[in-house]
Amino acid sequence: MLKRYLYILILKVYSITISISGNIKELTLQADKFSVYKKMIVILIIAAVSLPAPSYKYMRVDTDKRLETIAFGSCGHQDKPQPVLDLISDIRPDLFIYLGDNVYNDSYQIKDLPGCYSRLGSKPEFIRLKDTADILAIWDDHDYGWNDSGNDYPFKEKSKQIFLDFFGIPEKEILRRKGIYYSKLFTDGKHKVQIIMLDLRTFRDRLLPYKGEKAWIPGYQYRLDYSPHLNKKPAMLGEEQWAWLQKQLRLPADLRIIASSTQFGVSYNGYESWANFPHEQKRLLDLIKSTRAEGVIFISGDVHYGEISLIEEEYLYPIYDITSSGITSTWPFSTPNLNRIAGPVMENNFGLITIDWDRNDPEITIQIRDVNDDVRINWEFKISHLKFK
Ligand SMILES: [Fe+2]
Repeated sequence: MLKRYLYILILKVYSITISISGNIKELTLQADKFSVYKKMIVILIIAAVSLPAPSYKYMRVDTDKRLETIAFGSCGHQDKPQPVLDLISDIRPDLFIYLGDNVYNDSYQIKDLPGCYSRLGSKPEFIRLKDTADILAIWDDHDYGWNDSGNDYPFKEKSKQIFLDFFGIPEKEILRRKGIYYSKLFTDGKHKVQIIMLDLRTFRDRLLPYKGEKAWIPGYQYRLDYSPHLNKKPAMLGEEQWAWLQKQLRLPADLRIIASSTQFGVSYNGYESWANFPHEQKRLLDLIKSTRAEGVIFISGDVHYGEISLIEEEYLYPIYDITSSGITSTWPFSTPNLNRIAGPVMENNFGLITIDWDRNDPEITIQIRDVNDDVRINWEFKISHLKFK
């Protein structure tokens, strides 16, 4: 758009100059001066035509490669410096995954959302990251709609269009259906890594407000917002997304990273997480079992600190949920989490998954690195660890 305006402006300047020059010429201006103006204007036009368009539409994601380093993060305010993004660019990962709350529309007015993305898009840290790594993204509440909002958010279609435009996700399939869920399969022909991007907002039914039922549980030094749904009807994903996910989990892959904006693996803590919909959390674990999908790892954001949670169940391999949050946000405390095996990291941070494919049993290293680039969590296991016994 800017390029178009610049083009029009230059053409106008050119025509005005010609007309003025014509008059001046009549006033006996020297002919060689007019020719210098003409040359300058031609150079300006060529410069305008070769300017790159300032749009992130159709950001290219190269899936024909062996995915070895995957960085991820969430919760970045577009008006704050984002040194975490520079640390990620320094690593030059194959892929960076935005896990939601990628911008904060604090006015809650949909008309202000494009401006939030433009401010992120013009940050040098973001431009450098975009030029360094492929980027995939899902959204959470602050870039979808209102705080903790779900399927009752009235501007979800408009918000979706703004999201897809910014992150350049042109797939017709996504445009046709509700929500923003999608997947990508990265492969060099031999090694397959499936990235499954969930939409935890478009279909999510209302949360159940906390009414004091769990006041007796020790360790809650804060006001609880929500209680778990005991009835099995309220939805997290919605039936369309469930059917799609089932198909995805049946596709062959060595490793599957499921991106969930809110935490999947934490125990109930009164804040937003899958634990508020225990029947949906169980349904997903059961789906992994029934599809025999191996190599599943969850990554999540939202909570403004980093940690690893682990779910261990009968007839299932260990299910890890690696949470990285935030790029700029912080929180004064971490909630109790019976499933926490590492962390919390309370400073700004990002997550990093590295896969060493050159071993017989490929080794996976999971890290949470803080804003000083210190490795605060380092967790390693073989890929065979994520297989059914
Ligand atoms: Fe959030």
